[in-house]
Parts: sequence; C-alpha cells; structure tokens
Amino acid sequence: MFDDVPRERYGFLPTPLHKMGNLGESLGIDNLWIKRDDLTGLSVGGNKTRKLEFIVADAKRAGADTLVTVGGVQSNHCRQTAAAAAVTGFRCILLLAGAEPEYVTGNLLLDKLYGAEIKYFPDDEFLELNNRLDEILETLQDFGLTPYAIPSGAAMPLGSIAYAEAMFELKDQMETWNFNPKKIVVAAGTGGTLAGMILGAHVAELDVEIVGVSVVSKALELEERVRDLIERTIHDYPQYFESFEPKITIDDQFLGEGYGLMSDAGRSAIEMFAKLESILLDPVYTAKAGTALIRMALSGELNRETPTLFWHTGGNPELYTHADEFFT
Ligand SMILES: Cc1ncc(COP(=O)(O)O)c(C=O)c1O
Repeated sequence: MFDDVPRERYGFLPTPLHKMGNLGESLGIDNLWIKRDDLTGLSVGGNKTRKLEFIVADAKRAGADTLVTVGGVQSNHCRQTAAAAAVTGFRCILLLAGAEPEYVTGNLLLDKLYGAEIKYFPDDEFLELNNRLDEILETLQDFGLTPYAIPSGAAMPLGSIAYAEAMFELKDQMETWNFNPKKIVVAAGTGGTLAGMILGAHVAELDVEIVGVSVVSKALELEERVRDLIERTIHDYPQYFESFEPKITIDDQFLGEGYGLMSDAGRSAIEMFAKLESILLDPVYTAKAGTALIRMALSGELNRETPTLFWHTGGNPELYTHADEFFT
C-alpha cells in the first residue's frame, strides 16, 4: 500500500509489537500489548519518524534546501525534524514557542547537536505558530533559500499516509501473533497520528476502536482537526481512499493542568510502566495516554477479555527535563 508515494527510509520498521504481561496482570487485562513507536529510530525514536520519511522525500521532490517547522521548546517533533535534516543534508530552522531557557537539555539539546537553527517566540502557543509559517517562509525566500514548511506535529496529509501505512504493519503483526485488539489507546496532540490511524484502520478493514487521548485541546476542537485532516488526506490521495464517515473517539479527561505539565496521575503512570515493564513514558504525551489506559482498566471499561493495544509514540528525552518532579 502507498508504494508510489515517495519515501525516505530511516526508520527501524516494523517496530516491535509485544505483550505487557506484568502491567496487564496488575490492571486485570489478559491481553495487553504495546506497539513500540518509541523505537522507530531517528534520534531515539518517536511517531515523527514515520511521518518524516514521507515528508522529507516530498521536500526533496520539491527541490527544497531548508526544512522549517514549529513546536514547543521541548518539541519531540522538532527534534526529529532536526535529526532528519541532519541525515539528509537539509538546513533546519526551528520556530519554538516559548522563551529561550537558561539551561539547554532534553530535546532542545538534541536540536542543537543536530545543527538546527533556532528562533524563540516567547509569546506564542505552539499551535498558533503555524500561522506565522507563511510570513517566515517569505523572508527565507528573500534570503535566497528554498524552504519547505512542515506544520506542527507534521500534521499534514503525508503524515497521515505514514500512520495509515502503520496500520497495515500492525495488521501483519496481528496475524503473526494472533492478537486482535478491540481497543487502541494513543496520545494525540495535533491529531495527525490519530487521523492516519483511523484512515489506515478503515482501509485495512481492522475492527478496532482507536481512542485518542488529547494532551493539548478539548475533545471537540481536536475532533474537528482530526476530521479535517482525514478529509484532506482523502482529497489528496483519491487513489487510496474513498470518502467515509470516520468514528473519531477522543478522551480529553487527562489534559491536567495543561500542555507540557506533568500531572500526579501522569507521574504514577510513568512509574508504573517503568517498574513493571521497563518502558519509559514521557510526561507530556504518553504519560497522559498511559493514565487513560490505567483509568479505563480501573473503571471497568477495559476488562480481562478486552484485548488492548497501547500505542507508544515516543518522547522520552523530555522525561529527563522533569527529573526534579520525581522522588521529592
Ligand atoms: C511523544 C509524542 N506522542 C504523541 C504526539 C502526538 O502526535 P500528533 O501530533 O500526531 O497527534 C507527539 C507530537 O509531537 C509526540 O511528540
């Protein structure tokens, strides 16, 4: 599937699919599995590797010399874009929402190691920075560059294609392992990953409910973004998709104090995954998805007989920036 869409190859794919026996036992779910997109490769992995394989190929096709993208100061997406630029010879310009920190650590440290050029926007939210991309591209063009803009989270149809493709990867692994999840739990920021997964599940004919755990927006706003991206992807790639009414399930109960802030429940989820499975979650995205999974098990929404898949989307460099919030 999607073989005629240009693609770079730097991910370690397929990513592992394996059972989380200890966590499953503790939560009372016999068949609890995890898809390890924290192990995709490209700068310690994460969900942007798959998207960037298609997007960087498109930037090459467009004759660009510079990748420009936006995110928070500790953006995983920006870190992976900087890494992709480093390995493919692009210049990389990152527009980061927030003030320049005194201490460079986590993803920001890696951005710098990969040679990205960074501009800080202390007064902007990261989703709003998308609105500035056009103006900044024009300035870069005036300076003789050929920039290629990637919206925050790589939330664009090519990114959705990547996650639609990932559902075919999952389908193969489900057959190999004889594992048929009824629910998938995944973190959702811009919603691009979720949009791709919903599209992929539809065309791969997987009968599974995908729950996107929102980390930044209220459910209705995120649902709107996911629907819009699904529609744009269907529009841009009619050879693969036909119009359909997508079932978009968003859980926004775990936003906590807001984007980027670790909640007490998130910290417990991080500790539980680490102690029982040696799997590292990040405080901003996957800890909130982990919290949702745990809460679903405790409330009885998931039970022993519900084969469940936790889709890990990466992000662990951020964990180290929150070290002082553990064991206090
Ligand atoms: C670790 C991690 N998980 C999940 C997401 C959310 O992905 P999306 O923006 O495609 O919803 C991100 C986005 O940056 C991320 O870094």
